[in-house]
Amino acid sequence: MKRLVKNNVSWVGKIDWELETFHGDDYSINNGSSQNAYLIQEEKTVLIDTVWKPYEREFRENLEREIDLEKIDFIVMNHGEVDHSGALPYLMEKIPNTPIYCTANAVKSLVGQYHHPEWNFKVVKTGDSVDIGNGKSLVFVDMRMLHWPDSMATYMTGDNILFSNDAFGQHLAVEELFNDKTDQCLLWEEALKYYANILAPFSPLVKRKIEEIVGMNLPIDIIAPSHGAIWRDNPLQIVEKYAKWADNYQEDQITIVYDTMWDGTKALAHSLANEIQKISPDTRVKIFNISQTDKNDIMTQVFVSKAIAVGSPTVGQSILSSVAGWLHFLFELKFKKKKAAVFGCYGWSGEGVEVLEELLIKSGFEVTGPKVKVNWNPKQENLQEMKGIAEALLQ
Ligand code: FEO
Repeated sequence: MKRLVKNNVSWVGKIDWELETFHGDDYSINNGSSQNAYLIQEEKTVLIDTVWKPYEREFRENLEREIDLEKIDFIVMNHGEVDHSGALPYLMEKIPNTPIYCTANAVKSLVGQYHHPEWNFKVVKTGDSVDIGNGKSLVFVDMRMLHWPDSMATYMTGDNILFSNDAFGQHLAVEELFNDKTDQCLLWEEALKYYANILAPFSPLVKRKIEEIVGMNLPIDIIAPSHGAIWRDNPLQIVEKYAKWADNYQEDQITIVYDTMWDGTKALAHSLANEIQKISPDTRVKIFNISQTDKNDIMTQVFVSKAIAVGSPTVGQSILSSVAGWLHFLFELKFKKKKAAVFGCYGWSGEGVEVLEELLIKSGFEVTGPKVKVNWNPKQENLQEMKGIAEALLQ
């Protein structure tokens, strides 16, 4: 279904309420999502991005209901990832000679995935522009590593719309399309989760890119990302949030993450929460059992925390695989300037806390406080050892 964004620009994407996971199973989708594509009908007709392959038929049929596909003067592919390019081969079957504007890296990703080197690629870089008539043009802005090397954004003069692709998106089904119409709690929850779990590793680049875009002095009336709500009410509010999130963001929160075999390590986790509350009642404390909580939701909480504590019993001279897998994900996200502490129970050899410490240091955390390592089940005095961790994390 085509829906108006502004003047001669309409939304032609897919709202996917049934989606449960994204990036394989690596990102949980709790409130649906969308793949936003846009159709510009000025003197030139331009399609910006497509949708995921499962919806290629629906996408092309919807487009055909709106326009004669032969009338598309060119396609802009802001990014080659499958959620935005998956329907492109099916569309190109009908219009194989249509020019595709994209970055040099997107030629690599599109050809690599779909094996059509003969497509009519037009490589663009920051500052390049194309006249689309009626006094308007499209200006391209390289968004390298936000979040792929092939990413770019497209700015439409006259209507002042920034088609930002993945940047400023959320995995959220927004039937109403616009940020001012949707559920505000969900909007910000999903925007934060998206930043923490997808964009956080690129925070230094986000900072530089925001400075560059702001420095271009482009009037921005609408930010139209490729997922979730379109920002038309105070669109710069999401840019301002990104500037904060990219700057080693943290709140007065400590997040405790653990897994347990026979509840000993669980008892240590809860004792730590207690000790933190005794010393600093205003500090927000959250406890998550890694095996029982969505890993992306935990990661969002870690992103907003100033410190974390990670617990695992020793198993096989190491740690539980649930904790190890989660720590590998933590390593990928490259969070900065956060403290961490470690704890865990053991029966025989007790290497778990050292393994946790090593993995957290590797992930860029400042490991602090005593490494609380308890043989068999914790006694009262062991539980009180968690006070040392609490003090170190709150310092
Ligand atoms: Fe990087 Fe929404 O794809």
